[in-house]
Amino acid sequence: MIHPIVKYGDPVLETPAKLVDAFDAEFQTLIADMFESMYAANGVGLAAPQLGISRRVAVIDVSNGKTAEAKIVCANPEIVHAEGEQREEEGCLSVPGFRGHVARPQYVTVRAQDSSGKEFEMRGEGLLARAFCHEIDHLNGVLFITHLSMLKRDLIKRKIRKLKKAGDW
Ligand code: NI
Repeated sequence: MIHPIVKYGDPVLETPAKLVDAFDAEFQTLIADMFESMYAANGVGLAAPQLGISRRVAVIDVSNGKTAEAKIVCANPEIVHAEGEQREEEGCLSVPGFRGHVARPQYVTVRAQDSSGKEFEMRGEGLLARAFCHEIDHLNGVLFITHLSMLKRDLIKRKIRKLKKAGDW
């Protein structure tokens, strides 16, 4: 089922999410809903708090649904290694319409559990490394705008306040 994506301003986005401790049917439904909602919004990653659910799980597909093997489920993920640096424009489905340059590692190795609870390690480069960092940030209650300059961040926040007043957020 496609769910609406929670936008900046909702406290769930700035609250560290709780550990996933049950890989049951309810959890499988959550993952399916997360993929569906992410594809519907044309995103490459989505974290559970973005559906209003404070759980440490994210889904990623940097192929935009073109390759089945590109579908990644990360439950309770942790970055165990990072190297290099990339500086690219980044956006977020919870901060629609705004983008900014964020420095991220070029390579990231993540340790996580899959949808069945099995532990795995995966190394990502470029966009995938960026997605891992962005989604794990979400699980820690951190949005990409936190990484922007104060000037740029305040500009975005001001524009969002205006949109909210106008009822467009
Ligand atoms: Ni995001």
